[in-house]
Amino acid sequence: MSLILHNRPHPKADFPIFDPQGPNAGLAYLDSGASAQKPASVIEAVSQFYATGYANIHRGVYKLSATATDAYEGVRVQVAKFLNAASEQEIIFVRGATEGLNLIAHSWGRAHLKAGDAVLISAMEHHANIIPWQILRDQIGIELRVAALAADGGIDRADFTAKLADGKVKLASFTHIANATGAVLPVAELVAEAKAAGALVAIDGCQAIPHRPVDVQALDCDFYVFSAHKLYGPTGTGILYGRLSVLEGMPPYQTGGDMVATVRFDKTEFLEPPQRFEAGTPDIAGVIGLGAAIDYVQSLGWAWIEEHEKILLAYGESVLSKVPGLTLLPAGPERAGIFSFTVDGVHPHDLGTILDHHNVAIRAGSHCAQPLLNEFGLTATARASLGLYNEPEDLDRLVEAIRAAQRMFAPKRA
Ligand SMILES: Cc1ncc(COP(=O)(O)O)c(C=O)c1O
Repeated sequence: MSLILHNRPHPKADFPIFDPQGPNAGLAYLDSGASAQKPASVIEAVSQFYATGYANIHRGVYKLSATATDAYEGVRVQVAKFLNAASEQEIIFVRGATEGLNLIAHSWGRAHLKAGDAVLISAMEHHANIIPWQILRDQIGIELRVAALAADGGIDRADFTAKLADGKVKLASFTHIANATGAVLPVAELVAEAKAAGALVAIDGCQAIPHRPVDVQALDCDFYVFSAHKLYGPTGTGILYGRLSVLEGMPPYQTGGDMVATVRFDKTEFLEPPQRFEAGTPDIAGVIGLGAAIDYVQSLGWAWIEEHEKILLAYGESVLSKVPGLTLLPAGPERAGIFSFTVDGVHPHDLGTILDHHNVAIRAGSHCAQPLLNEFGLTATARASLGLYNEPEDLDRLVEAIRAAQRMFAPKRA
């Protein structure tokens, strides 16, 4: 199938990794859920920053440092607009979603939770939104509640409601889109319910941020985290959005330079948010790259991105459903750009290796969501995840390669 791309040249050409003359010629990259490839504009922005604009920020008295600071702080304003945050003070640069979630647990959690309080997560969480809460459970005696998986692969709404009922839940922390299945959670409704029950809400937006616009004020969440590398930006940087009134009541997570007003041996005064949460020299180039990634995504526009993904999803579901012996994990009422599946008689790791021989890159394993796979009675699946550069041909190549693996593993006649 060939796709009419809405009067726009296909964006694959914007990504040097797919250069038909380059070392990865012909690659069908279907692992954007793990990390997305980078457009030339992001690579160029990072490289130009190092080549012509590099200096440390917030402390230099010379022009180069002031310009670097402006560029870095400019991205904070840009991210605030991208998420429709009320103020750039609500945007904290972190290493990625993992650090953002740990910051919430170890700063807000340790300051505001006590033994007997509960944190509610869903059965669909990435390990990064499970383990920080388990640590608080083991260290300070909070209760960790898990809203169950529904039979259709979505969240069990009745169980979510029931687990909020006694008013002990002080924070509900759940994913926007499940990375192991592609299930889209009804986040706006879950936020409203959790808030009505008196809880704060954190959303893990790692898988949602490259696929749809996010408006933190419309969602009314208290925290939203994501990693830049899944949004076509660099590794090593990410965003923690926090409602300002909540951030103001949180102690620092890490301490050191760049987050203090005054330091004496007897006392230290910390800066206001967001600087209070950004100790030490940050990933300045990564932040500049994130700004370029947001520019790139916005240059395509959400309407194009969402329409493109809708076409690819429908096409993927149709071609995968015709492969005998292939079972797609259910993703509830709505699926985003992820197909997680098993193939009878072929272990996901073998499948991943054989697909690689066909120049098709997928992920195989537990996807850092072991409890969710356990719910399905599995320890591993194969996962194909979409980026905006994918074309229906990539999915055709996936299916051809799966069929080749099936032939390889078919029982041989004596
Ligand atoms: C839903 C979800 N949450 C959190 C993470 C962790 O992201 P990172 O490793 O970039 O911190 C991932 C990464 O796959 C994810 O998919």
